[in-house]
Order: sequence, then C-alpha cells, then structure tokens
Amino acid sequence: MKISNDTVETVKNGTDIIDLVSSYIKLEKRGRNYVGLCPFHDEKTPSFTVSADKQICHCFGCKKGGNVFQFYMEMENKTFTESVRDLGKPLGMEIAREESNMDDTHMQMIRLHEYLTDLFHHILMHTNEGQEALDYLTERGFSADILRKEKIGLAPDMRDFTKNAVLDKGYSMELAYQAGLVSRNEDHFSYYDRFNGRIMIPIQNHQGYTVGYTARSLDGQEPKYLNTPETPIFQKRQLLYNLSDARKDIRKNDEVILMEGHLDIVKVKMTDISNIIGLMGTALSDENVSTLNRLASNITLMFDGDEAGQSAQMNLGGQLLASGLNVYVITVPKGMDPDEYIEKNGKEAFETLVKNEKKHFIHFKADFLLEESLNNDMAFTSNMNTLAEHLRYVNDAMIKEKLIQHISSRYKVDKRSLEDKVPVSNHQQAPLSTQSTVRQLPLRPRKERYFLCALMKDKDLFKVFQHNINEEVLTTPEYYVIFKGLCTYFDNYTDFDISSFSQYIDGELFSVALEMDSILVNEDITKEEINDYLEDLSGIRYNEKEKQSLYIQLQEAENNNDIELQARLVQQLNELNSEYKR
Ligand code: GTP
Ligand code: MN
Repeated sequence: MKISNDTVETVKNGTDIIDLVSSYIKLEKRGRNYVGLCPFHDEKTPSFTVSADKQICHCFGCKKGGNVFQFYMEMENKTFTESVRDLGKPLGMEIAREESNMDDTHMQMIRLHEYLTDLFHHILMHTNEGQEALDYLTERGFSADILRKEKIGLAPDMRDFTKNAVLDKGYSMELAYQAGLVSRNEDHFSYYDRFNGRIMIPIQNHQGYTVGYTARSLDGQEPKYLNTPETPIFQKRQLLYNLSDARKDIRKNDEVILMEGHLDIVKVKMTDISNIIGLMGTALSDENVSTLNRLASNITLMFDGDEAGQSAQMNLGGQLLASGLNVYVITVPKGMDPDEYIEKNGKEAFETLVKNEKKHFIHFKADFLLEESLNNDMAFTSNMNTLAEHLRYVNDAMIKEKLIQHISSRYKVDKRSLEDKVPVSNHQQAPLSTQSTVRQLPLRPRKERYFLCALMKDKDLFKVFQHNINEEVLTTPEYYVIFKGLCTYFDNYTDFDISSFSQYIDGELFSVALEMDSILVNEDITKEEINDYLEDLSGIRYNEKEKQSLYIQLQEAENNNDIELQARLVQQLNELNSEYKR
C-alpha cells in the first residue's frame, strides 16, 4: 500500500525536527541553527546541524541527513513507510501497516518476545504458579503497578513451558533458539527451555522493542542472573538497559545516572528519579560510550556500596571522563545497593541523596585513594599521576581549580606542583561551519549548477525547460540525478522545499541539494536568461581537458623559446575557445 502524499505531508508538518532530533542527541543552539554530535558517525566536535526554519538536519562530516523521515529512517533503520507510520502515531494518525514489508526474522523474534513477555507476566500476576514469586517481589517492595509497567514475569519451573508456548503460537523452534529463548541439546538435536523458575525482567533495545531478558533465580539456583545470550537482536555491547524509557528525561536533565543492578533500576523507577540506565554486564563498550556522549554532558555513577561496585565505578569513571563527559559519583552507604537504600530509608531519602550528593569523579577517586597514599610513597606517586591524568579532561576552569584545591589540601602537596603535573589538554574545539558552504567548481559544473538552481526555485520555469534538458546539458552526473528527482518532485509539489525534496533523491545527494538550496538566484531571472544558459551549456563543447593540455604545451614551448609551436598552440586555443558544436 502506498501512503498518500497528503498523509506524508501531514506527518511531516506535524513533526518538529528539533523535537525529534533532540530526543536522540543533545542539541545546542548556535545562531539560527542547532548543533550536536552526529549520531551517524563518530566525532568529538559537533558537525550535525539542525535547522528549524528549513526543518532539515545535516552532518557536515558524513553528509547524512534530510528531513524528519530520513533522520528517523537512518536512526531506526526503518523503511520510509514504517517511518511515516511511526511518526504519525503520536499525531493520532493510524497509518495501515504494509504487510508485505514484514520485517524478516528480526521482527519475528521481537514479536515472539512480546508474546512470551505477556505470557510470563500473566503467569506471575494471575496464576497459582506465580504466587510464590509474586509474594517474593511484593515483599521486596515492588508494587503491582511497577510490575505491570515493566511487564515483569515468571518463567515457571515447568518442563517445556516456553517450548510449548512457542510451538502453540506457530513459531519455529529454530527461531526461538536463534532468539536465545530455548537451548539445544546438540547430541539429540532437541530443544529445551533456557529459563525455568526465574523472574523474567524484559530488556528493551533503544527503540523500545523487547529483545531479551535478565532472569533472576528464585531458589538460589546458580547463576543468580541468567541473561539472554548474544543473538541477532540482543547484542550487549549495543544495549543500555532502560534507555528507551529514560531517554526523554536524560535529555531534559542533561544527565544520565548509571546503576549496576536491573532490579535496582526497576525499584528506582518507583521514585521521582527517571533518568536512570543500566549496563548489560560490567563493561562499557565503545558503542555505549558514544551513545552516552550523544545523550548528555553529565553522567552520574551510582553503583552498589560494596567493593565490586566501588572498583567498577573507579574504572568506568576514568573511561567516561576521557570520553569527554562530566562524571559524578553518588556513594551508596556501605553494604547497600540503591534498592536496599530505598527499602531502608524510603523514596524521599533516596531522592534527596540523588539530588544533593554528587561528587565529581576525581574528587571521589582522590578521597578513595587517599588512605593508601599517605603511608606509601610508591602508591602516592602513582595515584598522583592518575589523578593528574584525569584532570586534563576537566574542561571547566572553575571546577578544575576546585579539584586541584581539594587534592592538594588532602594530599598535602603544593597546588602548583600538582598543576604542573596535569598534561596539557589537546582537546581543541574545531571551528564549526553551520552554513552550508558552496564549493568552488570549475566553470562548466558551476554553470550547470547555477542553471539547475534557477530552475529548481521556480516550477514554471522548470516546466518550460524540463524537456530540453538531458545528460549533454547537465554533464555532471550528480546534477543530472537531481534534475531527474526534480521532475518527479514537481509532479507533486508547486514550490521547492528542501525538506520535502530530500525524499526524492538519494541520501548521498542530499548535501549537494542542500548546497544548491543555499545558492542565491537572481529572483527575477527571465526565460531569456535561462535560454542563454541552456544554449551555452548545450552549445559549447566541453573542452576543459583539451585546453588544459594545450596550456601545458604552451608553457613548455615558451620555456623552449619555440616561437613556431607557440603560435600554433595559441591558434588552436583560440579555435577551441570559440568552437561550437552547431
Ligand atoms: P538482587 O539480589 O536481586 O537485589 O540483585 P542485585 O542487582 O542486587 O544483585 P548483585 O548486587 O548480586 O549484582 C548486581 C548486578 O550484577 C545484577 O543486577 C546483574 O546485572 C549482575 N549479576 C549478578 N549476579 C550475576 C550472575 O550470576 N550472572 C550475571 N550474568 N550477572 C550477574
Ligand atoms: Mn540488590
């Protein structure tokens, strides 16, 4: 089913590009535009520009961008139709699903997860099999509301429960196996449940689709937590737990709070603190780091108050700081984790703790390392070096000053000698272009570009000349392709609008079209002038290369004092300059 042009336009006009883009990345206002770190390639200084006026976005680095649809398609890896449908949803528009476009295995795996999640949740909430687990969770302070909201469930301790559910619903065992929902006995080639007698905590990918579980044993069975294995839809290095839910609040606060345990996060979701996410495991992948950098400037670590938590915090903090984030630490009292803190002290006390007790990571680390440094000069030296190394990443002069002050007084060293130890930061902000720059081109392509620009900005002119234009006129392939796009575009639109037009060309050409959009064309350019351009472009032989070679020969002839050859070459050049095909 093809979506009508009207529908596309309504969705496009109803979706603000600034709102959409800033739900994924942090944007800063620069003049009339907004800029941020490009979500499509790795970069340290922002070259992703969003224009509210034009309702387009564009990366000056990797050249990706377009209107709201292209942004969403690229971001979510969706088709155009799916994007129109998704973006139409918040506008209250129901756009029929394109059944033929059923998104292969990945989508089927997700549907299977969604089905099983509902089933596990039902078992937990409404059956005898679920009663013990429900009591356990209730006892630990999880409300029925939060269990419903998070769709927490129980995989009952019954042989082949998942296996049968999968088969009942008509999914293949191979699919369930590939999705990590059942295991396989390689000797007998038989399938059996992976999760038995476990509380199922669903894990969503960044788009909000359930792609796996972390499953807690109820009876002390090891391991305590069993996760979905790596599957095509569950790749731990790509995932951050709760990100799809927390994204909005992370953006709003410009801060993300990172916790260790999944159930801690579920518990904290019962408080007013919502900008929380969790790692899938203890390591922070490069992908995680760049996701976090795109989301916020500030990250707060709130790990368990045990040794493992503290040392994980110590390592991750350094990694995050070096990636350019401001890193803070909230210390949970010894022997507790956020969940236990809430149970013991209540929600309000927890909210106060989170609001009021944020130490800069370097402050935290300096205090942490102090004791071992005082009576051990070797440790002192190495810890001082580590702290100085961390300090290079503090960009704010005042906070840097404050940290140096703190360290030098706690460690009883001279402020200046600490300052001298801090490596010079080579973190320079590259100058940023927010305007599309118009490339300097050789004469012929420049003429073609201007000619096409003039037509593009006036549908009537375009229609007059459309049939005289071919690859002999627009010899530059990219302009010819844009011209073809314009032919279709003007069948549907009366005015040129770069945001709408971006749907009619390939992503790669968007930056060329954008450049053309920024070229000013004399407003009252006449048909006659365009005609002159057309004659010029179709008449003059494209002979730049020939000319170049003649100029080189001429230079040589001059050097060799070969007057005769010079004369001949000059004549050839003159002929070439006045040569017309007709
Ligand atoms: P509760 O005891 O239910 O409160 O869980 P917790 O989150 O407090 O557990 P713990 O402090 O023991 O572990 C913190 C986090 O480490 C968990 O949420 C898991 O993400 C992870 N973890 C703990 N035990 C295991 C395990 O046996 N296997 C795996 N894969 N991860 C684990
Ligand atoms: Mn716990």
